[in-house]
Amino acid sequence: MIPLAIYAKRSLRLAEWDQLPIFDVEVRMPTVEILVGMIASGKSTYARKRAEEGAVIVEHDAIVKAVHAGRYDLYDERLKPLYKSAERAMIEMALSQGRDVVIDRTNHTRAMRRRYIGLASSADASVIGVVFESESPQVHACRRYAHDARGLSLADWVDVAKGHEHEWERPTLDEGFSALCEQDVKFIDPEPDAASHIESIMDDLFASLLTEPKRDAAIAPGVWHVSA
Ligand SMILES: Nc1ncnc2c1ncn2[C@@H]1O[C@H](COP(=O)(O)OP(=O)(O)OP(=O)(O)O)[C@@H](O)[C@H]1O
Ligand SMILES: [Mg+2]
Repeated sequence: MIPLAIYAKRSLRLAEWDQLPIFDVEVRMPTVEILVGMIASGKSTYARKRAEEGAVIVEHDAIVKAVHAGRYDLYDERLKPLYKSAERAMIEMALSQGRDVVIDRTNHTRAMRRRYIGLASSADASVIGVVFESESPQVHACRRYAHDARGLSLADWVDVAKGHEHEWERPTLDEGFSALCEQDVKFIDPEPDAASHIESIMDDLFASLLTEPKRDAAIAPGVWHVSA
């Protein structure tokens, strides 16, 4: 026979046990979303929405800028191990805390994606490829230049976009993705005065072609330092 006090205590414990939140928690593995898209295809806009939902956003360019007081042009090849280890620590810590991770960079080659897929797999996270619609390099370059030129000329951005188009490797499931999903962002252009806007962009383009020496795309800020 169980003494009343112990019985009451045990019942109470059982009652409490029943109410423990653990029974209400849905166990869910975090996800790594690898964004794949040309420049100005809507990746960071998507990432901002995911950040509001609690995902941790890992943007390689932002890490480089953080190390150099906001100056991407101070990118230093010798510091590559530092950039990468910071990125890796962010991904691993976020996943260990059950946070989804979004990799916000162009990820337009298999080599770029391989590293993130490897990191996600080591943490038993599922990997989703979020693919943004591509248009012509000129459209992407004009959009990037019009919204946030980041100190580059339109001609530079056209070079960058053409380079990405040339290197572009469409993601496939056999790379290790659990799923691939297409993002069809509806860009709201042209604007009413688009004709004059495009005209002024083209003027800039021709002026820069005539006056500016071509920059080396490898040191321009943005998106094309391909991770090995
Ligand atoms: N649906 C939309 N309609 C119109 N403009 C948009 C839309 N979505 C994003 N934009 C604008 O287009 C520009 C490019 O978007 P965003 O910066 O998200 O692209 P991105 O893929 O991150 O580019 P990058 O690779 O150069 O960083 C931004 O200035 C953004 O404000
Ligand atoms: Mg971006």
